[in-house]
Amino acid sequence: MGNRKNIGIIGYGNMGRAIGQSIASNDCWNISVYDKYKIKTKNLKNIIIEKTLEALIANNSIIILAIKPQDIGSFIDDNLVYFLKSKPTLITISAGLTTKYFQKLIKDIKIIRVMPNLAATVNESFSLICKGDLANKSDIEISKKIFSQIGEVIVTEESYLDKSTSISGSGPGYIFYFMDVMYNSALELGFNKKMARQMVSQTFFGASKLAKSSKKDFQQLTKDVTSKKGTTEAALNTFEKCHLSSILKDGISNSYKRAKEISKIYTKNAGS
Ligand SMILES: NC(=O)c1ccc[n+]([C@@H]2O[C@H](COP(=O)([O-])OP(=O)(O)OC[C@H]3O[C@@H](n4cnc5c(N)ncnc54)[C@H](OP(=O)(O)O)[C@@H]3O)[C@@H](O)[C@H]2O)c1
Repeated sequence: MGNRKNIGIIGYGNMGRAIGQSIASNDCWNISVYDKYKIKTKNLKNIIIEKTLEALIANNSIIILAIKPQDIGSFIDDNLVYFLKSKPTLITISAGLTTKYFQKLIKDIKIIRVMPNLAATVNESFSLICKGDLANKSDIEISKKIFSQIGEVIVTEESYLDKSTSISGSGPGYIFYFMDVMYNSALELGFNKKMARQMVSQTFFGASKLAKSSKKDFQQLTKDVTSKKGTTEAALNTFEKCHLSSILKDGISNSYKRAKEISKIYTKNAGS
């Protein structure tokens, strides 16, 4: 297995699986996983399934921690001795938990924090990456390489990670909500479920692709499909009359408030 780096993933749920499946296809790395439910890690291709956490932590110089934020405090308590023994670089993807939180729990360990989103499951995540005090340039480089496999990556300061929760983290939820409104409207217009679903999904996909490939800002793109006294304008005027944009902004602002509250609750014990 030559100079391949060993990467271990703890927690093989939605995110762990998305990352594991995607990076296992890259020859640069040997991937190992551990989940407390063995059934989740049955019959995996190109992935080593470790029987114990001790072995996973000992055998991998990079560990991606993909368990829920509320489970992390007790997880570290239970396994601190293994981390202190081999001191792997720890990549956390937990919403709301800061690098300082991990640094307080596990001294002298290099921490990288990443905020991906659910589109990682189709290799279309948007991930923000930052480093803790002890991590260095090469830890950032390897993290960039790992998360580029599941989508787009930007390296930034940590303060942006909680903020991104309310945009790119929860964002897919807002989009699905709007898609559902359009889907139900299509059903009311008489389309069958299959047609309605395809029409709505492809409209979002097409609009997103157009926006990504264009240099125009979103307002200009909106104007481009809105002719005077036309059909799009009729809908947009109604949205504006109901102050939909300020309602959406309020929602996003509440999402950010909640991210900060959750972060406070989870980090309370570590005193961060
Ligand atoms: N899902 C998203 O959209 C998203 C986006 C950005 C970031 N994240 C972050 O990604 C992390 C994982 O989220 P997820 O949605 O993938 O969660 P998930 O589907 O619940 O996956 C977590 C997995 O870890 C397992 N687990 C829990 N404690 C464990 C332990 N001590 N040892 C080994 N395995 C353990 C869980 O088992 P049980 O189910 O039995 O507990 C579960 O299989 C979270 O920290 C979340 O904040 C998620």
